[in-house]
Amino acid sequence: MKVSPLLGGLALLSRIPISTAQTLNIVAHEDDDLLFMSPDVLHEVQSGRAVRTVFLTAGDAGDISTGYWEQRQAGSQAAYAQMAAVDDAWIQTDAGIAGKNIPLFTLRDKPEISLAFLQLPDGNLNGDGFSTTGQVSLQKLWKREINRIQAVNGSSSYTYEELLNTLVDFMHDFQPDRVNTLDYVNQYGDGDHSDHHTAAYFVQIASGRCAVTHSLTGYTGYPIQKMDEDVFGDDLKAKQNVFFTYAAHDSKVCHDLEGCGDGNEAQWLKRQYTVTDEPVANAHEIGDRRVVGLMETVVLDGTKSRAPHGAALTYQWTQIEGATVKLSNSSVPQPSFATMPAPDVVVFQLVVSAGGRSSTPARVTMITTGLKNVARDVMVTASSHNVNTGQTVDKALDGRIDGYPGNTTGEWATDGGKAGTTFTLIWANPQLISEVFLYDRPNLNDQVTGGSLEFDGGSKFDFGALDNYGNLNRISFGRRVASNLTLTITSVSPSTDNVGLAEIEVYGTPV
Ligand SMILES: *[C@@H]1O[C@H](CO)[C@@H](O)[C@H](O)[C@H]1NC(C)=O
Ligand SMILES: *[C@@H]1O[C@H](CO)[C@@H](O)[C@H](O)[C@H]1NC(C)=O
Ligand SMILES: *[C@@H]1O[C@H](CO)[C@@H](O)[C@H](O)[C@H]1NC(C)=O
Ligand SMILES: *[C@@H]1O[C@H](CO)[C@@H](O)[C@H](O)[C@H]1NC(C)=O
Repeated sequence: MKVSPLLGGLALLSRIPISTAQTLNIVAHEDDDLLFMSPDVLHEVQSGRAVRTVFLTAGDAGDISTGYWEQRQAGSQAAYAQMAAVDDAWIQTDAGIAGKNIPLFTLRDKPEISLAFLQLPDGNLNGDGFSTTGQVSLQKLWKREINRIQAVNGSSSYTYEELLNTLVDFMHDFQPDRVNTLDYVNQYGDGDHSDHHTAAYFVQIASGRCAVTHSLTGYTGYPIQKMDEDVFGDDLKAKQNVFFTYAAHDSKVCHDLEGCGDGNEAQWLKRQYTVTDEPVANAHEIGDRRVVGLMETVVLDGTKSRAPHGAALTYQWTQIEGATVKLSNSSVPQPSFATMPAPDVVVFQLVVSAGGRSSTPARVTMITTGLKNVARDVMVTASSHNVNTGQTVDKALDGRIDGYPGNTTGEWATDGGKAGTTFTLIWANPQLISEVFLYDRPNLNDQVTGGSLEFDGGSKFDFGALDNYGNLNRISFGRRVASNLTLTITSVSPSTDNVGLAEIEVYGTPV
């Protein structure tokens, strides 16, 4: 038996062929890419592009002796490993820029992903610098108020021209067809961080001096907070999860949905805007199902994609994985297809275009089981549920994979249940069952960390920890006939108050 958590489809990546296309991101701080360039950075890693991100500052916030900025680097590594769906294991070399020591980290199991850290002092919001690093900043270098800036690590220092040449060298070495940076269009004092603008101003000049043909995209920083939300669904969830993976290493940001509340990070996570007006693609299945059964009509939905300034979008859907299905029309916002009788994983990507500019490809992944979800029209009982909050046992079967802190009434939560909690389905007639899909409560406190499935009080399968963000966990076993199925939760995370499930799906056929 195997349990494979599918983190928003990320775990399927290894089967996707690697393209030679390369994206070079150059940002100021260790989370700028995750907050302001995502979901684009996520889409690019997912679509198999080579991605290198260069961080100009150490993001030290003036704190250079406590290990804070080294931890932020570790956070960036953890975040990219998660996006690439491989182990957080990196190989350190030198970036190879003449005359400079710049650590370059390459992902061991996905070497097309790499991170470089120049470790220059954080310049502070207004570019005044911090006393601990001598009140220097990139902004002061840009304005030629200082001649040279030195890495917090002490390993290298840069004049204005040397920093520009370093960026040009990064471009020549990596041969990107896309260069992404922060906002090089707007000016200091617009509410964005001085390091964001300055990094982008340097990159824009370097881009002009670079002989490799590439596009340059600038992403808006802090001011996106006031713009309309434009990151939704799986993209939002994946963007949040990747940021929280980073945040576990950064003591100065919020760490989960509850902790972020309505604060700055929560707002930035819901948005992505470019100064160059690229559209943003959003793709999902209309019922947000991850798993679809036998001979169903599936409708893909791209209508949450955003066009700059409300321009008309064109849509291009492409199937990139699975046995070919026939889309009703690959250039409409909501094409449909009929599922095949055979089990498969189908992946589509959507690129939207407007005004000659195209989005990064958003993808939607679905498992077609070739079987029916038989966890409907079934009797269900549990050792407890919470009637007062509407988190009743039937909500684990309502087709809605949601729960607190989202839609609270979309899930089953016990009344104080921990290890020892049981949940039983009883069919009127025997069923031929071969797979069970489990979705934990999406909040981070309550988590199933182990359990078992028992068929007709006989054969029993153990499973391990469920993905804590409420993503799909697929439990496959040989087919068996059963009239009842009991799930017993055998262990929970230490922070669990009320264990439960957002959803259970049981794939099989009546016999
Ligand atoms: C400091 O710089 C040196 C030289 O590039 C490098 O080997 C070392 O890993 C750096 N330290 C950190 C924490 O990145
Ligand atoms: C597909 O949709 C596009 C855009 O609405 C339309 O122009 C085209 O005629 C459609 N193709 C078919 C074969 O219906
Ligand atoms: C929340 O879930 C319930 C089902 O339990 C549903 O009736 C309701 O429409 C959902 N609310 C939203 C805002 O989706
Ligand atoms: C499940 O099925 C087994 C075998 O038929 C039976 O002994 C047991 O009582 C059933 N359990 C429930 C809860 O119906």
